[in-house]
Amino acid sequence: MSTILRDPSLLVVEGLSEQGWACVPEFLSREECLALAADGMAAWEEGDFRKAEVGRGKNKVIREDIRRDHVRWLEPESMSAAEGRYLERLEEVRRAINGRLFLGLFGFEGHFALYQPGAFYKPHLDRHRETMDRVVTVILYLNDGWEAAHGGQLKLWTTPGDKEGASVIVEPRLGTLVAFMAGDHWHEVLPAQETRMSITGWFRVREG
Ligand code: OGA
Ligand code: MN
Repeated sequence: MSTILRDPSLLVVEGLSEQGWACVPEFLSREECLALAADGMAAWEEGDFRKAEVGRGKNKVIREDIRRDHVRWLEPESMSAAEGRYLERLEEVRRAINGRLFLGLFGFEGHFALYQPGAFYKPHLDRHRETMDRVVTVILYLNDGWEAAHGGQLKLWTTPGDKEGASVIVEPRLGTLVAFMAGDHWHEVLPAQETRMSITGWFRVREG
């Protein structure tokens, strides 16, 4: 069935429940995505991004051999209108996931991520070993006119726990949303040849 006729939130839930991951083009309108991209670029030009770290808590470190993106966390006090609207859409997705998959997701944390030419993120899982809090990863790409020659594809291994076998390649095109079970699916960002921007985040469960 055509995605035009289907609620994008339900396509996300269907993909997660049937195969553990989903890729939904045109999750948001072009106008909404361009507004988000403009907010991200303005923040970048203001110097609001920081080198991304790996690890957690006291063990967070910059490891440029593993990842070379820069991030800016979404904070309630500096939320733009477009960011607020995107978070409302994610709230629909969160409720739809809980209704269908009973994951008990209660919140979302996320950041803009910017890859400069040459930047990558080596294969990894998003769920930290010491904690169980990040359950579902959600990424919205914000790159207008992205072409295969620009690199920066997401490579997502489709078998839970496996980083050798079958994988899919996702082009980080404006409006495409990818979601997957954060602890199950190995993934990497291939080297970008152009500036590549996204909003990446996680639906969480309460720890403890
Ligand atoms: C991440 C990540 C993938 C992407 O930020 O953890 O894996 O396609 N991002 O941006
Ligand atoms: Mn990741």
